[in-house]
Amino acid sequence: MRFKLQPGGVLTGEMRVPGDKSISHRSIMLGALAQGTSRISGFLEGEDALATLAAFRAMGVAIEGPANGEVLVHGVGLHGLQAPSAPLDLGNAGTGMRLICGLLAGQSFDTQLTGDVSLQSRPMGRVIDPLTEMGASIASADGGRPPLAISGGQQLRGIKYDLPMASAQVKSCVLLAGIYSAGRTTVTEPAPTRDHTERMLRGFGYEVNSDHGTISLEGGGKLQACDIEVPADVSSAAFFLVAASIAPGSDIVLTHVGINPTRIGVITILQLMGADITVQNEREVGGEPVADLRVRYAPLKGIEIPLEQVPLAIDEFPALFIAAACAEGRTVLRGAQELRVKESDRIAAMAEGLDTLGVHNEVLDDGIIIDGGPMGGGEIRTHHDHRIAMSFAVAALRAEDEITVLDCDHVATSFPGFDTLSRTLGLNISALAD
Ligand code: S3P
Repeated sequence: MRFKLQPGGVLTGEMRVPGDKSISHRSIMLGALAQGTSRISGFLEGEDALATLAAFRAMGVAIEGPANGEVLVHGVGLHGLQAPSAPLDLGNAGTGMRLICGLLAGQSFDTQLTGDVSLQSRPMGRVIDPLTEMGASIASADGGRPPLAISGGQQLRGIKYDLPMASAQVKSCVLLAGIYSAGRTTVTEPAPTRDHTERMLRGFGYEVNSDHGTISLEGGGKLQACDIEVPADVSSAAFFLVAASIAPGSDIVLTHVGINPTRIGVITILQLMGADITVQNEREVGGEPVADLRVRYAPLKGIEIPLEQVPLAIDEFPALFIAAACAEGRTVLRGAQELRVKESDRIAAMAEGLDTLGVHNEVLDDGIIIDGGPMGGGEIRTHHDHRIAMSFAVAALRAEDEITVLDCDHVATSFPGFDTLSRTLGLNISALAD
């Protein structure tokens, strides 16, 4: 599928974007391992979360739905999973693979994990290393890449682990393995990362201690089923936060968006650039803060992105680069080397697309410098990355010529219906079959 975008447009109206991807993955995993039935609402019916759902079904967990975002997970308890009859295919999802790896390291049976071409190129050494230290036995393809083969029947032991990079996936993987380990598992993170695993474990009645970046839990507890309401994904909302900020005359409200403090770097960074975003109607659902976000057009200016905001906005940089391209002056991002190992190398993929549109930029090892200015049109390659596709769709609002975004199938991993919702809000977008 390709997106074709006519230049210009004004965004107006109110909309709820699909459910949070990180929370949707975790709701299936913890629901499956709990005792009793968990009811999930607002579940993201995107390919990534559905791949996690299918993986647990393949391990004998009865799951009803999803139907309109409602899922019923009949938990089998921590020791109730069964050996799958085939390798588990996690599709495009790094979160799915890395978190499930932690859970499977402590099972009595062997498993194999695989994924699509993007996932097969992503580093898994970052989870294999700590899990091996805990006593797990995991084989990988060259360079610590998937497919992975996990040997069951290993007795894991708790470790103290200093995360070498700010990664919620690695933190979560080690904590989930910690549930199956003897003794205490402690993880220290170099900078705050999303804490959905910790929050949700507590929601399922599992004690987790968090103290200034050191998170620990005791193995051998149990999870008690609970109901989960998944907020709208701030990472999906980000495309419209940028879109409304760059398109003159725009005024939109995005409802029920998750505003967990570990996820709202995109709001902070856009506000530093001069964006007009107001956080309204703050409330809490199922242990996660949510709010409605009103966004009105405002002229943006380039900034140096504060280093401490980088892990808090890690998935939103492709969209933020478009904001930078539309801002007056220069935006500088550093300290973001993690962007190079996402669904694509997001620094290289975005720089390539910005070059196509004629936006001056300079690639750094760990970031990018972008000079705002006029944008032309052209053909954009996505490198199998959903967020690259959606970012360049939004860029059309300020482009002078038509933009074609090639290879957009992966948008369905995180944001099914993106083209329809965008059109409703005011983007001139059509989706064309290849
Ligand atoms: C995620 C953590 C982040 C993020 C990813 C989802 C999660 O990855 O980029 O999209 O759900 O834990 P890292 O933890 O590898 O930075």
